[in-house]
Amino acid sequence: MKESYYITTPIYYVNDKPHIGHAYTTILCDTFARFNRLLGKKVFFLTGTDEHGEKVERTATSLGKEVTQHVDDMVVHFKQAWKKLNIQYDDFIRTTEARHKEVVHIVVRKLLASGDIYKGKYEGWYCVPCESFWSDVQLADKKCPDCHRAVNHYEEENFFFKLSNYQDWLKQYISEHPDFIIPKGKRQEVLSFLKDPLEDLCISRPKKRLSWGIPFPDHEQFVMYVWFDALINYISAPGYSVKKETFSSVWPADIHMIGKDILRQHAIYWPIMLKAAGIEQPRHIIAHGWWTIEGSKVSKSRGNIVDPINMAAMYGVDTFRYYMLREASIGSDGAYSEELLIRRFNSDLANDLGNLVYRSLSMGERYFKGVIPAIDPQTIVHPIREHAEQLGKKLEKAINEEFDPRAAIGAIWDLISDANKYVEDSKPWQLKKDTSKEHQLREFMYTLLEVIRFIGIALTPFLPETAEKILFLLKESKVDAAALNTWGVLQPGRTLEKGQPLFPKIEDTQ
Ligand code: MSP
Repeated sequence: MKESYYITTPIYYVNDKPHIGHAYTTILCDTFARFNRLLGKKVFFLTGTDEHGEKVERTATSLGKEVTQHVDDMVVHFKQAWKKLNIQYDDFIRTTEARHKEVVHIVVRKLLASGDIYKGKYEGWYCVPCESFWSDVQLADKKCPDCHRAVNHYEEENFFFKLSNYQDWLKQYISEHPDFIIPKGKRQEVLSFLKDPLEDLCISRPKKRLSWGIPFPDHEQFVMYVWFDALINYISAPGYSVKKETFSSVWPADIHMIGKDILRQHAIYWPIMLKAAGIEQPRHIIAHGWWTIEGSKVSKSRGNIVDPINMAAMYGVDTFRYYMLREASIGSDGAYSEELLIRRFNSDLANDLGNLVYRSLSMGERYFKGVIPAIDPQTIVHPIREHAEQLGKKLEKAINEEFDPRAAIGAIWDLISDANKYVEDSKPWQLKKDTSKEHQLREFMYTLLEVIRFIGIALTPFLPETAEKILFLLKESKVDAAALNTWGVLQPGRTLEKGQPLFPKIEDTQ
């Protein structure tokens, strides 16, 4: 029986080091995974690398390297980047691993036996950067219709997957499951694409032309088409057909997070592959937009790469995570700008959040010698208490129902603004002067610190390092759904740390 919350990133091609586009998909998944861990769910967060195909082989050749050496070297960059960006994945799959190849063979044999895979003749065009086949009519000006680069002509015997058998089924499935493809615009795109007849998918390569791939089972003169191999990672990692119990505790995936450029493969090929193999469909396929610079997609071939490790080293991991999550809404493209990142840092992180935490703890030190004032938290009646108590539910709705991390962050910042306003409105410096207001001052101080505790916990999925610092200052170690939803967790009498400002301002030198 399924118990887990299962979320996946696409597996990344190892033809280059990760850039901010890859970092974005991975940070989104990490945030969703952390949030669901916080809710107490058993999370399985999978990422990995896509290591076969012509693109990777060509890169290795151009570097004068053995392809196996090249892929081993490149994987290190991905693992390092995810470590630096504080990505807490549960498994990392490489398509060159034996456990993956084994499941690919199981699936292909099953589909050969059912007749969904057959041998035929292929004649058409291939775009290496996109690893995609195109027919004469699909080409745009004799170029790849997706990336507008040159294509190669191939004519050869190959294996095909009968997409056409399942076209009507897929149309109906998507129509009956409005949340299967998110956002709506992308769902519509897929439905329009499905209006024209689907051509069967060529899923092999003759080995004499391309040797870098998973051998086609029982037909050693062929290797697998990289996309057919790659998509299977989502079931090979949890052990489809091999580790039956683990697999059934994880599958179906809750979310396949992808960029909009790989929607066709995930929303057409993959569901049909699963259907043909008799495997349940994933719950949601979420297609996000691109990060662009001066209107162009950030990518190696366009030469406009921004290194996420540099960004994190310069501005802090959480600043980078914050910028990515706050600035782009899933479904639209985001224009990357370091200047905007600095502006966001100074206004949202340094001014709103950093100042709130620092001034509150300084007041705690000044007014109460750094000790949480004695009060019965349940006697406190104030709208900010309700606001804090509702935050957890708002986050749950934003992340798990609306798939909108930007709205979730917005909800946390609403509480931060409210807390800053609460300080201004309560005027604690006046309460301090009047001994008859001692109780009011205590109540104010406890409320403010307790609200900061809510903020600290709510930030754990988004800005894990900052959240940890805040909770450390409050000497708070309970981080779970109850702590996120319950008022009065902070223990009176406990000694706080004042700490340092969390985000010292950056001078804008741009
Ligand atoms: N290997 C395939 C995926 C196979 S999944 C079974 C692949 N790899 S990729 O490395 O080219 O891209 C991986 C992901 O990074 C895609 O989701 C893609 O959309 C995302 N991004 C690459 N550049 C991007 C931007 N500039 N902006 C946002 N994301 C983009 O495709």
